[in-house]
Amino acid sequence: MGIYGMVTGKAGKSGFGSASTAEDVTQSIDANHLTAIVTGGTSGIGLEAARVLGMRGAHVIIAARNTKAANESKEMILKMNPNARIDYIQLDLSSIKSVRSFVHQFLALNLPLNILINNAGVMFCPFQLTEDGIESQFATNHIGKISFSIFLIEKLY
Ligand SMILES: NC(=O)c1ccc[n+]([C@@H]2O[C@H](COP(=O)([O-])OP(=O)(O)OC[C@H]3O[C@@H](n4cnc5c(N)ncnc54)[C@H](OP(=O)(O)O)[C@@H]3O)[C@@H](O)[C@H]2O)c1
Repeated sequence: MGIYGMVTGKAGKSGFGSASTAEDVTQSIDANHLTAIVTGGTSGIGLEAARVLGMRGAHVIIAARNTKAANESKEMILKMNPNARIDYIQLDLSSIKSVRSFVHQFLALNLPLNILINNAGVMFCPFQLTEDGIESQFATNHIGKISFSIFLIEKLY
């Protein structure tokens, strides 16, 4: 979309602007051969990304810390599109142990990884240290996200 589209709401050179939806930008894309991981796929932008990628045929792995929310999201997506391929692997980005466990489980599935949507994040949370001794917002938004991407990077190329 570019900054022009974000600020003005008008479509930029890509033809998309801030009013464009996930369905708009993926229209006519056949994602049947693709595997996508969406972190934080249980609410907001992540849930919508998971829903629309599933609708376009991608095999979507929802990476989320809350199993109940993940199952509810999966159910909701399947209700709208019974053919969607949606799976869930637990991931708490604020824990290096959990990041490693996710990657171990994902690699064991022997799937390609074509799309990684590093969406999960927190903002303005009260000061707290994680089990790794890192401030929790920094751990989630930076250390966890970067480790996650580094552990998975060879699957992306
Ligand atoms: N919406 C905006 O206007 C806006 C603006 C700027 C940036 N962003 C960023 O865009 C992303 C999505 O925004 P949103 O509005 O859709 O946010 P949201 O509805 O709050 O969703 C955030 C997702 O991240 C997950 N998450 C949080 N901490 C996690 C952890 N430690 N491990 C795994 N998952 C974790 C949440 O899971 P739980 O349900 O378990 O908490 C939730 O599914 C966020 O990173 C946000 O900071 C959003």
